[in-house]
Amino acid sequence: MQAMEQVDCDLVVVGGGGAGLRAAIAAAEQDPGLRVALVSKVVPMRSHTVAAEGGAAGVAREDDSLDGHFNDTVTGGDWLCDQDVVERFVAECTAEMVQLEQWGCPWSRQEDGRIHVRFFGGMTTQRSWYAADKTGFHMLHTLFQTSLRYPGIQRYDEYFCADLLVDDGAVCGVLALEIASGEPVCFTAPAVVLATGGAGRVYGQNTNAGIVTGEGMAMAHAHGVALRDMEFVQWHPTTLPGSGILITEGCRGEGGVLTNRDGRRYLQDYGLGPTEPWPRPKAMELGPRDRLSQAFWYEDQAGRTIATAQGSAVQLDLRHLGEARILERLPMITEVARRYAGVDPVCTPIPVRPAVHYTMGGIPTDARGAAPLDGLFAAGECASTGIHGANRLGSNSLAELLVFGRAAGQAAAEHARSAKRRRQGVLERLAGEALAPRLELLRNERGERLAVLRGELHRIMEQGVGIFRNEQGLDEACRALAALRERLAGGIRLDDRSRTYNTEWLTAMEFQASLQVAETMAWSARARRESRGAHVRNDAYDQRDDERFLVHTLAHPGDGSGPVIEHVPVTITRSTPRRRAYGAEGEGSA
Ligand code: FUM
Repeated sequence: MQAMEQVDCDLVVVGGGGAGLRAAIAAAEQDPGLRVALVSKVVPMRSHTVAAEGGAAGVAREDDSLDGHFNDTVTGGDWLCDQDVVERFVAECTAEMVQLEQWGCPWSRQEDGRIHVRFFGGMTTQRSWYAADKTGFHMLHTLFQTSLRYPGIQRYDEYFCADLLVDDGAVCGVLALEIASGEPVCFTAPAVVLATGGAGRVYGQNTNAGIVTGEGMAMAHAHGVALRDMEFVQWHPTTLPGSGILITEGCRGEGGVLTNRDGRRYLQDYGLGPTEPWPRPKAMELGPRDRLSQAFWYEDQAGRTIATAQGSAVQLDLRHLGEARILERLPMITEVARRYAGVDPVCTPIPVRPAVHYTMGGIPTDARGAAPLDGLFAAGECASTGIHGANRLGSNSLAELLVFGRAAGQAAAEHARSAKRRRQGVLERLAGEALAPRLELLRNERGERLAVLRGELHRIMEQGVGIFRNEQGLDEACRALAALRERLAGGIRLDDRSRTYNTEWLTAMEFQASLQVAETMAWSARARRESRGAHVRNDAYDQRDDERFLVHTLAHPGDGSGPVIEHVPVTITRSTPRRRAYGAEGEGSA
């Protein structure tokens, strides 16, 4: 076994996006003597947080309340949220936004200097803080520059984290590969925070950066952690056909409307209307994402969408907002529409359709970010804290990565101070064992092409585990994923066998993770024989069934033939499940 570089620290944070940076800062603030390694497969400013556009939720107006944010979140999540965690979440969002402001985040402001907040889908009032339509960019930049103040935070940019090191039921470090050299590095620490983002790239049509491939979830799962609520995958209703580039919900928050092929606003046909005049709109385009994406599907089936070269679409019309407002509030969307859709939103509607955007499920954590593996913490999209339930509301995730990034950083720092460290011999053995299969993958001379396998994964997930699901399609998806797993076991044939910047090798490892995560999604979806939030079935299980399914799903790693599914209770504190209705029908109306 080759000698391996070893970096001894107190805490390893995997992921340099918003959640990872917030966790690292919190840990370093709590204990400036702590040695924190921030390990990221990209330079932090290239993390996917940078792509977030529209806003971050937090009560800001006198006419808003924590109860309002709580109720919208729990209703939006179709009562699958853990309400104790939502209570904590809503109580801490605003302080985090203010903290970011003090660190330099340029939130958009009103003429009188007060913070501007905009409407977002499923939020019954203006609650989403924003920085034009580059909210994620500005938040990430703020966190990144703040992290530079703490000498305890040592960055390892462009290090690919390949595995967790786990001994006797406790995490004791990670194995990473330096991307430039391909050399392994063993980071030892009694606490690890996973902040590796979601897994949207499991699907072909998505809004996610190429890096969003689910490794954090897969690593935890490989070490026995059951992934929670993986059937709940969010389609964002407004993305550019073909490329999946996000057209922010902020467009609709500013008053943009969706029309079908006939130029008709159609959402009232799906229980989301009728509208009230601005500035107190009832749901319509400000309904939640699950409902809007499902409405698109029906319009498409009915032939009321427009055809584009990259697939069918509806039209997002901003023209009535006027050029000045469009350019002030939505400058990046304007540029994106002009450049990538060839339309100027000032004078022409933008063609849009749903694409996969967010993974509601993930590594289960408590409100401190602790996962069910000693020493392991998770925050951000890779975590399932329980706040999103069956459908996340837009702008809750940027708030989430702050609130739970901080919580996880603090809890991990505390854990690191008291936890036992492993002996050198144990660490070397674990790192060697983790490295061996990765080197084997590089050397393998037989097997299939990566692009073929990945294309098959996308096909299976888009066809069988899409916006609408059914028993037959899910059965078929589970079978096809198992067959793909078998093919993967036969090897991936790489063209590049060098170590230096071998992105093909890294992509192969990402693919292994994606397939593992995809299986948890399909198996969890098949076991949920009801319709709730973003998990909607068009078979005998097309209704919500609280009697049997007001439960979280846990997808445990199985014996090699697929995940083992368990259902466990949801925590309800004060909001009893009732019919989820929007617009004129009830909940979700302003
Ligand atoms: O549409 C958006 O700007 C997305 C925001 C979110 O996912 O929270």
